[in-house]
Amino acid sequence: MKKRTVFVCQNCGFQSPKWLGRCSQCGDWNTMVEELEEESELTLPEGGGEPVLYHEIKEAPGQRMPVGIEQFNNVLGGGLVLGSVVLIGGEPGIGKSTLLLQVSRDLASQGGPVLYVSGEESLEQIKLRGDRLGLKDETVYLLAEVSLERIIRAADQMKPKALVIDSVQTIFSSQLTSSPGTISQVREVANQVFRLAKRNQIPVFLIGHITKEGSLAGPKSLEHMVDVVLLFEGERDHHHRVLRVLKNRFGPVSELAIFEMSQSGLRAIENPSAFFLRERPRNEPGSVVVSTIKGSRPLLVEIQALVSSTLFSGNPRRMSIGLDHYRVSMLLALVEKKIGYSFAGEDIYLNVAGGLAVGEPAADLGVVLAVISSIKNLPLPREIAVFGEVGLSGEVRSVGQPVARIKEARSLGFEAVLLPEGNLQQLPGEELKGIKCLGVDSIRKTLSLIF
Ligand code: TYD
Ligand code: MG
Repeated sequence: MKKRTVFVCQNCGFQSPKWLGRCSQCGDWNTMVEELEEESELTLPEGGGEPVLYHEIKEAPGQRMPVGIEQFNNVLGGGLVLGSVVLIGGEPGIGKSTLLLQVSRDLASQGGPVLYVSGEESLEQIKLRGDRLGLKDETVYLLAEVSLERIIRAADQMKPKALVIDSVQTIFSSQLTSSPGTISQVREVANQVFRLAKRNQIPVFLIGHITKEGSLAGPKSLEHMVDVVLLFEGERDHHHRVLRVLKNRFGPVSELAIFEMSQSGLRAIENPSAFFLRERPRNEPGSVVVSTIKGSRPLLVEIQALVSSTLFSGNPRRMSIGLDHYRVSMLLALVEKKIGYSFAGEDIYLNVAGGLAVGEPAADLGVVLAVISSIKNLPLPREIAVFGEVGLSGEVRSVGQPVARIKEARSLGFEAVLLPEGNLQQLPGEELKGIKCLGVDSIRKTLSLIF
C-alpha cells in the first residue's frame, strides 16, 4: 500500500499537502520537510471503554522508584514513577549524558539492570565517562544503537529496571523514510518508547537536545506525549547547572535542583544560597543580597549594579544579566522620577552573580538598592538581606513566602532583613527569633533607613 506524504514544518509541526517556502503557521522559512503521513490509529485500552463511577476507582498513584540524588528526587516529585517517560532537554555539552549515566549507576546499584542506549557515542566513549564518574560493578548495560526497533527489542528482552535513550534525535524508526531528528521520527520514537514504558512498567529517560532558542529541538510536539519534561540548563562558562521541571504529570512543576560540574561528574549542591554567595565582595557599593524564591525554596543571590558616566555622547547603556530587562527599565525610571537622580549621562549595568536568572518582582527592592548604592558609592551593611516588590509610586509591596525568605537569610548568618511593611505585619514573631526584621513601605523610607 502506498502511503501518502505531507509536508511538515520542522519548527512547529504544521502540516500542509504541498511544499511551502515559508510555514504559514509559525512564519519560519525553509522548514517544510516531506514526510510519510501518520496513520491515525485509535488504540483502546483493554477492558476500558466503560464509564466508571468516580469513587469506585481504586488505582493508587503509580509506584515510585527513588533515584540516588536526593535533589533529583525532589525535582521529580519524590522519585521516578514506574511506567513513566521523562524527557530531559538541554543544550549540547551541558551534562545530560553525565547526569543520566550517574542516575543509571545509582538505579543499578539498587538492584539493576539498567539499560543505557546511546545513539551518539561509542561504548568506549561512554566507558571513559563512566570511569570519571566512578562506575564499577553496577549492572549498567550499554548499547550503542540508533534503530528504534532494535532498541525496543533489546529492552523487551532484557526487561531492565530503567531505560535511558541518549538522544531522541539520533534514534530512528525504519517504518519512516525521513531522517533521524525530524518531527515525525522523534514523535515515533516517543510514541514507541511510551508504549514500552507502560508495557514493562519501567521508567524511561529520553534525552533531547534543545536549540539555542530554547525549544525542545524542533519537536515541541514531543512535550505533550511524555509524562515529565525536565530542562537542564546553565551557562557553559559557569560550573553550576540548574535542573528544572517544565511539566510533571505526577508532581509539582516548581521544584529545581542545582548541580556543580566537577572532575568526577555532577554534584548536587546542598546549600545553594551559600554556593551563590561564596564569593561576595566585602563592603563594595552596588552589591545587594536578595532573598528570592526559586522553585518552591528560598535562595539568596547577590544582585550587583554598576553605574558609571557614559564616556562618549550618545545613548547611555543599559545592560542587565539575569534580570528582566523591562522590569529593570521600569525601576530605573522610577528611581529617576521619585528619588530625583538623573541617569541621562550614566551607563547602568546590572548582574545576578553566579549566572542565575531572577524573574520575580520580589527582587525589585534589591535592584533599586544596588543601583542607588552604586551611585552613592556607599556599600549596604553586609549583614542585611532584602526582598520586596516595588510599585510605580515608589511603594514597597508585599510578596509571597516572607517567612521562608527570612529563615533562609537567618540560616546563612544574616543579622537583619529589609522587607515590605505589609509582610512585616503578618509575621509570626516567635518563629523568627534571632534576626531583625525591618519593614519599609516606600523607596524613600528605605533609603533613609539604609544610607
Ligand atoms: P556531557 O554529559 O557529554 O554533555 P551532554 O550530554 O549534555 O552533551 O558533558 C558535557 C561536559 O561535561 C563535557 O565538556 C565534559 C564535562 N565533564 C566534566 O567536567 N566532568 C565530568 O566528570 C564529566 C563526565 C564531564
Ligand atoms: Mg550527550
